[in-house]
Amino acid sequence: MKVDFGNLKRQHQRIENELNQVVKDCIDNTSFIGGAYVKNFEKDFASFLDLSNCVACANGTDSIEILLKSFNIGPNDEVIVPAHSWISTSEAVSSNGAKPVFVDTLPDRYTIDATKIEEKITSKTKAIIPVHIYGHPAEMDEIMSIAKKHNLIVIEDCAQAHGALYKGKKIGTIGDAASFSFYPGKNLGAFGDAGCMVTNNDKIAETARRIANHGQAKKHDHKIEGRNSRMDTINAAVLGVKLKQLDATNTSRIESAAIYTDLLSGTNVILPQVSENAKHVFHLYVIQTENRPALIEAFNKEEIGYGIHYPTTLPLLEAYKASNYSASDFPVATAYTENIISLPMFPYMKREEIEHVCNVIKSI
Ligand SMILES: Cc1ncc(COP(=O)(O)O)c(C=O)c1O
Repeated sequence: MKVDFGNLKRQHQRIENELNQVVKDCIDNTSFIGGAYVKNFEKDFASFLDLSNCVACANGTDSIEILLKSFNIGPNDEVIVPAHSWISTSEAVSSNGAKPVFVDTLPDRYTIDATKIEEKITSKTKAIIPVHIYGHPAEMDEIMSIAKKHNLIVIEDCAQAHGALYKGKKIGTIGDAASFSFYPGKNLGAFGDAGCMVTNNDKIAETARRIANHGQAKKHDHKIEGRNSRMDTINAAVLGVKLKQLDATNTSRIESAAIYTDLLSGTNVILPQVSENAKHVFHLYVIQTENRPALIEAFNKEEIGYGIHYPTTLPLLEAYKASNYSASDFPVATAYTENIISLPMFPYMKREEIEHVCNVIKSI
């Protein structure tokens, strides 16, 4: 039985008419940039998070970069980021001319180890970007108290965790601001690249909105230089429809994760740990196995999709070669890269599919 790593068709089929309708509406009205769909999505997403501002933009990388710029973080500044993330988190820091300072990962989960943050803080440190990686919230209480003590900004990178909760609070509402990606495969995904920035800080939201639209507050009023990072109207329309499904699609992911956990417990693979503080929304279901090459071979043979998120820890990527980091600087994160593998995970997986994946894992 072939099992996809990700499958968007199943969730889209359930809302096909509504999706077709809004896309047709954009085409019929030649509404492609801005307009009511973008405004409504911003309003709906802000209200989903119970925050006062949501600023739509072109993708999740831009959203981190623009937020950092809005907080005036740039050359000579340092920003704490996890060693274990997708490169956007650190890339957005460097693109502003600031320096990403990497911190190792918690041993039993995959989020930043807050106990190792303070040793990396210098007089240049301006911000921390915790990443709620794989859908599991970072330990926000510890991070916020370090930030408060050292007067640092916290920008949550929520690209993988739409709808996750930390101590009952939605992620994205705890830091000073937060960034979301709506890349198609995310828990809330568009029909292309899209992202947004959220915050209760009106001034930051206003600056971010200007930066994302060539520095304009209104047409031809360029108080500052910005860039083009707008969300396409069709994407906003699609996201508006899909936002209404987010709770259901997250629930479906959580149910699939519970089946994996049930079927794989007692085997020698390490299963994802969920903190008692967290509602994990399983963007990814990541296990660790010392037998990864054999498992990959078996998955390939059985046509089971998989991913490795990520094969190299950020500071050891060639992009950061000049900083001369070594694996021993990030022992936990680098050890993961050898053993982690992401299993098929998407809304509305069938039980037989999960059983098949687990049987293949057990067989090796
Ligand atoms: C942790 C993390 N941050 C940021 C991003 C950036 O999002 P985008 O691809 O929309 O630029 C991603 C996307 O994969 C991500 O996984």
